[in-house]
Amino acid sequence: MNSVLSVENGGYLNGCGKNLYCHKSLQSAIPGFYHDMNGKAERPDTTVLKQKLGRLAIHECPRQVQVATEHLIQKARNCMVGKTDNHDQDGIKTMTPENPSIALIGPGAIGTTIAAALHEVGRTPTICGRSALKQLELRHDGGRILVPGPVLTAPAAIETAFDLVFVAVKATQIDAIAPWLSALCSEKTLVCALQNGVEQKTLIEPYLPGNQVLPSVVWFPAQREPDSSVWLRAKARLTLPDTPATALVTKALAGTLCSVDVTPDFTSVAWRKLLQNAAAGLMVLTGRRAGMFARTDISELALAYLRECLVVARAEGAVLSDQVPQDIIDVFRRYPADQGTSILADRSAGQPLEWDCRNGVIQRRAQARGIPTPISDLIVPLLAAASDGPG
Ligand SMILES: NC(=O)c1ccc[n+]([C@@H]2O[C@H](COP(=O)([O-])OP(=O)(O)OC[C@H]3O[C@@H](n4cnc5c(N)ncnc54)[C@H](OP(=O)(O)O)[C@@H]3O)[C@@H](O)[C@H]2O)c1
Repeated sequence: MNSVLSVENGGYLNGCGKNLYCHKSLQSAIPGFYHDMNGKAERPDTTVLKQKLGRLAIHECPRQVQVATEHLIQKARNCMVGKTDNHDQDGIKTMTPENPSIALIGPGAIGTTIAAALHEVGRTPTICGRSALKQLELRHDGGRILVPGPVLTAPAAIETAFDLVFVAVKATQIDAIAPWLSALCSEKTLVCALQNGVEQKTLIEPYLPGNQVLPSVVWFPAQREPDSSVWLRAKARLTLPDTPATALVTKALAGTLCSVDVTPDFTSVAWRKLLQNAAAGLMVLTGRRAGMFARTDISELALAYLRECLVVARAEGAVLSDQVPQDIIDVFRRYPADQGTSILADRSAGQPLEWDCRNGVIQRRAQARGIPTPISDLIVPLLAAASDGPG
């Protein structure tokens, strides 16, 4: 569990052997006390700390004065005298839904972005992955964020369920994270799926004990680099459906580098993004990045495919204008020529592809409704074979 507080733009106080959240103004104000990865932090005088926190509250964080001063001063005082109040066995205050405990499964391109966003504001999630990493690293326009690990790789190490679990593995990897889901989730856990597609609930809910899955639309491109760091190539943004559970996620991500929109018409937004993903699948078939959409023949093919997909989207309840296919092509044309897509990254790495949740689903839904999809009928088998073989 973390003992983080809702304060923006900060780092960690590390004066009691555990992390306490600290606004950035304190990083220089209290030398030696700020986030010390080597465990060499020193404890400052309580009075000095209180003065600094008071100054922080007044000048830096007016909206969250109460939270910042109250909690930090109390925690700092407790550290000085070795007291605990409302703390668990590690001396860390157990989170409530107001201050939810957060875990993240799948610290890849999207998972690292969200973990870094949460970490930067002191809400560092428990990170669960497949590969043991000492830390995560996100590179973005504003600089570099290091998220201290370790990345946990054994679900058996998890002792308690979490309030909020982000799932950021590929749709093809959901089966494999079943042990994580059962270790991290109780019936009260909210699972927020950070995945492409319109079937996130259907795919994840069978693995949960009656939990709620909150789907999302992930709008930002993030790229894993050879050194395991992640390059965030645009501003991070999610769209969530407007449900009673949504507030838990918006609150968790409030004030982070990842903005969140909430929409009453999630179906339309999700299908809009699905169409974009479907067209991006063409990059797998050419082995080329976004620059290929500068070709007239490719943009015409993509446009015809998208118009076919649009009919299916509307039949599924999405309200999307005739202009959407052209808008999507225009977006690809504005991308840097070397910008890829996660399904192309998987193809280049010889990994299974999310062809079914990004392309196959449109063909499946169309078939169920008797809608002809001649272009899907060509594209989908090629993607499926590129992913799954044989051969
Ligand atoms: N990347 C983008 O720009 C982007 C944009 C929008 C939406 N999306 C969607 O977001 C989702 C995640 O994509 P991504 O690009 O972030 O994928 P990714 O980079 O491949 O990350 C997946 C992560 O899950 C981990 N993982 C795999 N199997 C696991 C297991 N059994 N237990 C625990 N962790 C496991 C992987 O570990 P390893 O490190 O061992 O592989 C990796 O860290 C996909 O649905 C994708 O379509 C991606």
